[in-house]
Amino acid sequence: MPEQGHHGHHGHGGQMTPEQQRQMIEQELRLAKNLGQIKHKIVVMSGKGGVGKSTVAANLAETLQKLGYKTGILDADIHGPNIPKMLGLEDIYGEAFSENQFETFKQITESRLAEKNFDNDEDKLAFIESIKQEFNTTMFPVQLPSGLKVMSMAFLLESIDTPIIWRGPQKTGAIKQLISDCNWGELDYLIIDNPPGTGDEPLTVLQTIPDADAVIMVTTPNVVSQEDVLKCVKMVGMMNINHIGLIENMAYYICPHCDEKLHIFGEGNGEKFAEEMEITYLGDLPIEEKVSDSPNHDGVISTIDPDDEVSKRFVEIVEEIQEKFTKD
Ligand SMILES: Nc1ncnc2c1ncn2[C@@H]1O[C@H](COP(=O)(O)OP(=O)(O)OP(=O)(O)O)[C@@H](O)[C@H]1O
Ligand SMILES: [Mg+2]
Repeated sequence: MPEQGHHGHHGHGGQMTPEQQRQMIEQELRLAKNLGQIKHKIVVMSGKGGVGKSTVAANLAETLQKLGYKTGILDADIHGPNIPKMLGLEDIYGEAFSENQFETFKQITESRLAEKNFDNDEDKLAFIESIKQEFNTTMFPVQLPSGLKVMSMAFLLESIDTPIIWRGPQKTGAIKQLISDCNWGELDYLIIDNPPGTGDEPLTVLQTIPDADAVIMVTTPNVVSQEDVLKCVKMVGMMNINHIGLIENMAYYICPHCDEKLHIFGEGNGEKFAEEMEITYLGDLPIEEKVSDSPNHDGVISTIDPDDEVSKRFVEIVEEIQEKFTKD
């Protein structure tokens, strides 16, 4: 990423050069323009790693898309960007991503040119040049066969196993750029998969998207994880985001022999917990082998097996989210 880290170093002090100031203002404008085309933004968070954030984010996104909403998913986890893999998009990084960007650029340029009538070649060239300038600071999401649009730091890596080693300000700069420079087009929903915890990175995401409709916390039914959620809820409470929801993942197990729901860690913990924290309980999900196995196939469970219990629960959770958070 070309500009990474420029902004983080300077904070709000007066030490920016005019050029840096200009760049920052332009980035703010791109942010407003790109996010301005999106009706609803939902951030998925958790206090702890490994509780199923990315699984929830990817399934919510595919479910919304399946229900007919134009949807995008932003993988803001710059260290472990695994959303593309979960969605069956394994080979688009480095050069393949550049090619994908060029194709999109070509398509958009052609469709814009088709709308215009030029008196002379000079005007036409100037027009193309202006599009080129605009696209220097634009990234396009990759589109899945379902229509879901995906953007991830994984696309910007040289190879899928390149580690990202950045210092704090570079990281926040990169996250901000990932959000400001992605041109989603018009969307009904953007789901953002936040890095775990309450550190700099998840905070940067929340600060960069201050008008998110809701934050959805993912937790598992054990106390330790719930205490971490509490920290998250407090952090979000300090931002100007009104709606917080809770999903209890891996809450029960369905016996493959008798279909009985086995609540190994006790029943109703998530609901009780949400009540105590005065946030909205959105539902629970069973632990299922098919869910963890689905990255080995062509996408998440909601796409590959819509009749599965988990896929059905995601449809219900989406309805709950719309009822509670995004009713127009
Ligand atoms: N309901 C479920 N049933 C079975 N496996 C699940 C379920 N939810 C998540 N998993 C599996 O648990 C693992 C962790 O899930 P996931 O990657 O979504 O968590 P995460 O919170 O995004 O993790 P990280 O903090 O590392 O980003 C994955 O292997 C995933 O497939
Ligand atoms: Mg994750």
